[in-house]
Amino acid sequence: MTKFARIRDEILAVTVVVAVVSLIFGGLYFVFDKALSRWTSRDLQNHAELIWRAAANGPIDGLGDRIEALSHTDALVGMLACIPGNSLVSTSLADQINCSSPLARAAMAADGKTITGRIGATNALFTAHLLGDVGQLVIVQDPTFVEARRERMLQVLVLGAYAVALSLLMLIRFGVIRSQRRVVRATRDLLKLIDSGDDVAIPTEIAAELRPLVTDFTDTLTRLRRHRIAEHDDSGPARLRALVNSADLGDTSLLVVANREPYEHERGDDGTVRVRRPPSGLVTGIEPVLRACGGTWIAHGSGSADREHTDAHGRLAVPPESPEYVLRRVWLTEEEYDGYYLGFANEGLWPLCHIAHTRPTFRSDDWRAYQAANEKFAQAAVSEGADSLVLVQDYHFALVPRLIREAAPDAAVSLFWHIPWPNSEVIGICPWREQILDGMLGADVLGFHTRFHCLNFLETVQRYLECRVDLATMSIEYRGRRSRVRAYPISVEWPYPSATRDAGAKLRQSLGIGRDVHVAVGVDRADYTKGLLERIAAVETLLASTPRLHGKFVLVQLAAPSRTRIKKYRDLMSELEEAVTRVNRRFATTNWKPIHLELRNFTPEEVRVHYAMANSGLVTPLHDGMNLVAKEYVGSCADSEGALILSAFAGAAQELDAALIVNPYDTDAVAAAILRAIEMPAAERRARMSAMREQVAKSSIYDWSSKLLRDLVEVRARRDRVWPRSRPSHAVEAAV
Ligand code: G6P
Repeated sequence: MTKFARIRDEILAVTVVVAVVSLIFGGLYFVFDKALSRWTSRDLQNHAELIWRAAANGPIDGLGDRIEALSHTDALVGMLACIPGNSLVSTSLADQINCSSPLARAAMAADGKTITGRIGATNALFTAHLLGDVGQLVIVQDPTFVEARRERMLQVLVLGAYAVALSLLMLIRFGVIRSQRRVVRATRDLLKLIDSGDDVAIPTEIAAELRPLVTDFTDTLTRLRRHRIAEHDDSGPARLRALVNSADLGDTSLLVVANREPYEHERGDDGTVRVRRPPSGLVTGIEPVLRACGGTWIAHGSGSADREHTDAHGRLAVPPESPEYVLRRVWLTEEEYDGYYLGFANEGLWPLCHIAHTRPTFRSDDWRAYQAANEKFAQAAVSEGADSLVLVQDYHFALVPRLIREAAPDAAVSLFWHIPWPNSEVIGICPWREQILDGMLGADVLGFHTRFHCLNFLETVQRYLECRVDLATMSIEYRGRRSRVRAYPISVEWPYPSATRDAGAKLRQSLGIGRDVHVAVGVDRADYTKGLLERIAAVETLLASTPRLHGKFVLVQLAAPSRTRIKKYRDLMSELEEAVTRVNRRFATTNWKPIHLELRNFTPEEVRVHYAMANSGLVTPLHDGMNLVAKEYVGSCADSEGALILSAFAGAAQELDAALIVNPYDTDAVAAAILRAIEMPAAERRARMSAMREQVAKSSIYDWSSKLLRDLVEVRARRDRVWPRSRPSHAVEAAV
């Protein structure tokens, strides 16, 4: 309500009250005035009678003196004693009236009743009484004092009435405001309770008369809350939590073994320690699972200040600002790290699996370091709980499933391979391919992003191991145990948090990019598998062939430095800078440059603002297991405004088939797809984006982890029936 309206209402209320009070008291005044008049005349008559009795009481000789003395009484003007032959007049009336005056005669003829008349300029009342049988006494009274008294009484009455009315008004108002405030306070308390997720209880300070209202209100809100929970339960963290907490899992804990830690403590040049979020698709995918379910993430402690921020067992609660799960850091020597991570994992398996035409390097020292590091992580996992559900992640830990299986036969282990699995011929290049496959088959469940990679894996084990592969059930029997192989396409959380278009517009302004310019955004680690040089070549081709786009198109490429101790990655960063400089030099004008390259780390929030600024997303890796950037971009287009250009060689292309699918090696085709995105009719753009959003919504990160966990639980239950556990589990022990 506006201030003006409030004042208007107040004035209206006061006017109504004044009118009603005036009406009531107008009527009362009338009645009261009549009564008062009657009372006054009776009063004056009584007064006259008293005077008469006092004057008549005594001998007739002293009458003159008594008349004189009594004439000084309050409200008495004077008296006339009309006795034939001996009339007396008080001095106060001398010369004004005598017994023959018409008024005196009229009074004597009125038979004791009071009549009015004038004495000089004033009104007076005349009352006559018999003086025995000698004559009559006419008493003349001044009525003004009685009238003054009547007026005073009426004034008091009117003022009192208004005072009472106003007080009542104030009391009512105060009461209404107080009870309004109480209702508001009670409502707020209830909303807080509902929001906190506790069972709703009626606050005791609510007054009795309000309780029925509060009860209704509470019931309605409780119903709404149940609805809300039911909706949320259908997908997302709640469902995942419910699965983990279900009887199926008993009291087993969730363990994730993944090399990259989600939070690194880094000491800066100024000596202060900062918490860093590594730019890794794996971190993006796994963290929501642990945040929803709790558990332990076993990772390499790679931050320069990591040791100072853990307990004696390398543990700390994360996220640091509001802990939800445990991060257990495993310490590696520099040699172990170099050999295991940089060498075997990233110079051997990474290029081997990606087939991005970067030759893999396999060294015996690296292999030994890889084995040692896998041992360390497996031991850490076993020490966290032999009866756990273990989710081993990625190509860094091919040997961990077997090592856990041997040390803790009751653990249920899965291995998810986040990068592509190539055909058997390619894998055959690795000198330790059998050991790698043997290590992986220690897992009960083996996951890849696509069915294509699953089939490649089945073909590979068939070729290199003595095992039985069942294509119908997608399972492998090896060394007396069975492993399931399944496709679990990883995804992002949903709804995906997005920045506002306003924030995007501000960023565009700060980069000096005009509102009518089409911005394509690329967000990648600076990795040769991401097709960044090929993307820049496509932009160059597009601008060379389409001059009308000069000043109207910009590629904003974020490239987070990664694995920089490997020469190939350092070389890539220099090549990127050179390529961007070349293209910008060729086409830039004084107020436009076609490519903005940002070679640095970005927070997730910064990345979201870049998505919000963009008109299209460019995700063109040469090969990728899934590529979560494609799904993040789709997730961030909450208004369905945005086009996605996606590599056919990213796992995401199998789900996001409404994107503009390109072969990243085909420079002309990528250039044509960018032009298509720029010129695409709005309706088509929205239809494509809506279709992709539906796809990501129905298969979020929670679906990925739910399916994986459910399969793992099912496999374990079956295994326990066929091969009873080697020793009682914690759950059984507790029950016994
Ligand atoms: C990408 C890959 C993951 C891999 C991760 C490692 O996200 O998709 O499979 O685990 O990179 O990155 P890092 O920086 O930890 O070497």
